[in-house]
Amino acid sequence: MNSQAALKLQAPEPGSSLLSSEIPDRVFYGYQRLIYREAGIYLGPNKKALLMGRLARRLRELGGPSFSAYLRQVEEDAAERLRLLDAICTHETHFFREPRHFEFLENEVLPRWRAQGHPGTGVRKVRAWSAGCSTGEEAFTLAMVLRSHLPVEEGWQIEILATDLSTRVLERARQTLWPVERAREIPTRYLKAFMLRGTGSQAQWMKAGPELRPLVRFERVNLHEEHYPVVGRFDLIFCRNVFIYFDAASKARALERLVEHLCPQGFLFVGHAESLGAVTQRVRLLQSTIYTPGSAG
Ligand SMILES: C[S@@+](CC[C@H](N)C(=O)[O-])C[C@H]1O[C@@H](n2cnc3c(N)ncnc32)[C@H](O)[C@@H]1O
Repeated sequence: MNSQAALKLQAPEPGSSLLSSEIPDRVFYGYQRLIYREAGIYLGPNKKALLMGRLARRLRELGGPSFSAYLRQVEEDAAERLRLLDAICTHETHFFREPRHFEFLENEVLPRWRAQGHPGTGVRKVRAWSAGCSTGEEAFTLAMVLRSHLPVEEGWQIEILATDLSTRVLERARQTLWPVERAREIPTRYLKAFMLRGTGSQAQWMKAGPELRPLVRFERVNLHEEHYPVVGRFDLIFCRNVFIYFDAASKARALERLVEHLCPQGFLFVGHAESLGAVTQRVRLLQSTIYTPGSAG
């Protein structure tokens, strides 16, 4: 008997699917509700294939429970819910992603701060937040740019908070270790100044150097939660390509909370496909995808 025939002979559990194209609507809507409630991520009906694709590996690891059985499991088990969210989210990231943002810092912001001190306080301290940091490339890009332009010899202190919903990407980010091919994304002057290349059995890895590592602190923060353990205000907030799967309501709520943490003369950077015009009135556009506090009107 071929495997196709064997598959047809098995009686599916009610609400389960043997073929991935058969995830029942009722089960899909169960996942949709749970994921929205937990993370603010809204999976519209056209995201059924995406959900199935992203869960396939985890279901295989667990020995192949049905989508329906796995939904029951994640409803009851907080640790497994984290794994579900890990699997659902897109974690793609790069060093110097959207280079225009870093050019803006290098050319328009940091020379001014270096000359005048911190806007508002004059103190030589800068705080930045990479919110939705994935595996750390964004936070360490910021670390390289800030450290280069705000040198320690001039008394500049730099603090970068890097947060994500996913514990799996945070574990990787904390290692500050990336495949050496990623070096191509980093301009040579930064690469030479701040990154270490592995040797021998480590030759395929690149590590953040000792000057950078103490600048970045990683924490788990779910931006969908009403209260999260982030304290104080930041001069720079990068929240790029995080709200892509949020709906308008969850995005608006998360942004309101984020803007609370922005210094009056700070800057908020969002992803290239994101616009805040219709979402919050508390920031105004400086240039495409770069905002500062103030009335949009
Ligand atoms: C596509 S990555 C973007 C990484 C980086 N910001 C960039 O632009 O290169 C999106 C990240 O947002 C995180 N994320 C999604 N929903 C989140 C939430 N509710 N709270 C915090 N982080 C979330 C995901 O885990 C993922 O690592």
